[in-house]
Amino acid sequence: MHTGTYLRLWRSLLILSPIVFLSLYLYNDYVKYDNKAILDTLLEENLYVLPPNNLNYLDTFDDEEIDLLIANPEKYITKTNKKSKGPQLKGRFLHITDPHPDPYYIEGGLIQYACHRDFEADVASDLLKGSKFGDPMLGCDSPMDLIVETFNYMSRNFPSSEVDFILLTGDNSRHDNDRKIPRTSFEIMGNNMDFSTRLLDLYPDIPIIPTIGNNDIYPHNLMDIGPSMITRQLRTIYQSMIPEEQRRLYERFGSFFKEVVPGKLVVLSLNSMLFFKKNPLVDSCMSPTDSGYQHLLWLGSVLNQFRAVGMKCWIISHVPLIQKNLEESCYLKVNLWIHEYRDVIIGNLMGHMNLDYFNVIKGDELRQRLKETYFMNSLQIEDSAGKLIYKDGLNDDEPMFSVMGAAPVNKDRYMNKVRKEFKQLNMGIDYDDLDKEQDAYHIINVAGSIIPTFNPAFRIWEYNTTEASTFSAEEMSVNEMNWSLFFEDLENEIDNIATIGIQKRKGKKRPKMNKDKSIPKPKPENLPNGPAFENQFGTPLSFTQYFLKLDKLNRNYYKLKDKKKYKDNIEQLIEDIFAYEVEYTSTDLLKLAGVIPDKVDYLGNEDVPDLTVKTYLQIMKGLVSRKKTWRKFLKWVYVSSGYEKNTV
Ligand SMILES: *[C@@H]1O[C@H](CO)[C@@H](O)[C@H](O)[C@H]1NC(C)=O
Ligand SMILES: *[C@@H]1O[C@H](CO)[C@@H](O)[C@H](O)[C@H]1NC(C)=O
Repeated sequence: MHTGTYLRLWRSLLILSPIVFLSLYLYNDYVKYDNKAILDTLLEENLYVLPPNNLNYLDTFDDEEIDLLIANPEKYITKTNKKSKGPQLKGRFLHITDPHPDPYYIEGGLIQYACHRDFEADVASDLLKGSKFGDPMLGCDSPMDLIVETFNYMSRNFPSSEVDFILLTGDNSRHDNDRKIPRTSFEIMGNNMDFSTRLLDLYPDIPIIPTIGNNDIYPHNLMDIGPSMITRQLRTIYQSMIPEEQRRLYERFGSFFKEVVPGKLVVLSLNSMLFFKKNPLVDSCMSPTDSGYQHLLWLGSVLNQFRAVGMKCWIISHVPLIQKNLEESCYLKVNLWIHEYRDVIIGNLMGHMNLDYFNVIKGDELRQRLKETYFMNSLQIEDSAGKLIYKDGLNDDEPMFSVMGAAPVNKDRYMNKVRKEFKQLNMGIDYDDLDKEQDAYHIINVAGSIIPTFNPAFRIWEYNTTEASTFSAEEMSVNEMNWSLFFEDLENEIDNIATIGIQKRKGKKRPKMNKDKSIPKPKPENLPNGPAFENQFGTPLSFTQYFLKLDKLNRNYYKLKDKKKYKDNIEQLIEDIFAYEVEYTSTDLLKLAGVIPDKVDYLGNEDVPDLTVKTYLQIMKGLVSRKKTWRKFLKWVYVSSGYEKNTV
């Protein structure tokens, strides 16, 4: 009897022991990491399931209650019957990013010294040295020769008579990668000045739209809401590119827009620094006192005004507006605006990562995720939303202070993650009903850079201008915007909200979701699809990706420079050999992904699909269909540098 009881006790102890140990283990973790961290982890892993009785809580939000900051967009519009000379559009624009010119770069400078110095003696003969035009993947910034010749090449081959406008997505200064020559604010501004002067010289008569990179500000990555020294200086440097009535708010947010086809097509240059996870001053986008929150008020009001006037818009920024780079609540809110204004927004073009690829964002789930963020906030889990981190075990693209400022870091692992994301998104899409399905998504394009992280690259986009001829009809009624009045009101409204925010903060209260003007209302059902979804004026139709084979160029240069023909005429040599080549076109991408047959020659563009979201979804599907296809895609992602071969 006695022994029987013991046996039973031992047996139950044995059975229970894993549970006991697990509980102890978990409790231990619990103590170590506290409640907030656990909730964060759960939310991050999508394991956080709201308790059933709280689901109602989420449903009580009525999106219709959300008010717009500028309640009456009509106020700023006057209809006029105006004789207007239609624009002569070429249907083409240039996108350039991340030049990183380095005035200290010397040919023959040691890679380990950021190509800034050489050893005096010959001892260093076997160490890697920088070439005349720079070297892919070795980590030095761009030699001035590369920058100057790139722009000369562009203006020779794509003069302003061939393109409608130019987009620059930032980082016009070198990395801060040399302890002996720390980068100063003066130098950053000097680089930007040189850059803008050079471009204005080459393209005096078409719009150039710059945006602020994390290396265009001082200190690196760090930026608060202005007006500040930095925004004032940048405003002065880019003065001629920023419309006058927007300069005050540019000094505040670092953002502006330019009507590249007046009344029809606009490029919105969004300062991503105020949402950037690596910016120590970005806490979250949840409180009216957050700079990101205020910046969203600007973004939303401007987008809503575009909708009211009937303008379509490209968004450009330096840091891609994806989860990897942005503070979580900022990420959710910015992308929700992009989703809900999908009748207005044509697409998103960004830089910073030096990779040439695209992201697919599922916009229709962001509101729900935002609601959960608000819910977490209402539990007074202080800053939980703000501090959620996108953990992929990867560092951001630039180590803070390293000689290898420009060298590729962990790009292969990152692209593996992109592939997994694509596969996952793929599973949720009904490809038989793409016309409808595409509404839920938007595309964020990331562009290859001039800096030779891989090979230097830029892109030419072609877009639909068929309808443009009708703009020039003799007499047409035009919506004319009074932007001065609009920005006057907008500034006042933002000031009001910020002030209320400061008063409220004393009570530690954050706005309720339905009172939060940094969140968009859902897109009204009756608005027709925009150029991102249906081919019309502004829709991207194709692109051509250009790249510079640096190794070949350097080889040619050293082979020919002492030849009699060039000995006293290096300029001629450079002009003869310095040429970007077509790396691939969107048609090649469509073929690779199996969206169109491989064997056909497409001379005209008639039979090639436009680059609307539904096409991108098909491309995504094709790219992840086979390992071999993905590997071929990676070749372009790494600008044909062969990086994918080094890393298996
Ligand atoms: C814009 O509105 C302001 C204030 O009402 C007015 O003074 C100004 O003349 C308007 N500008 C145009 C171009 O209509
Ligand atoms: C441009 O859009 C119009 C519709 O607005 C369409 O009829 C035309 O075919 C498109 N042009 C091209 C080249 O795709």
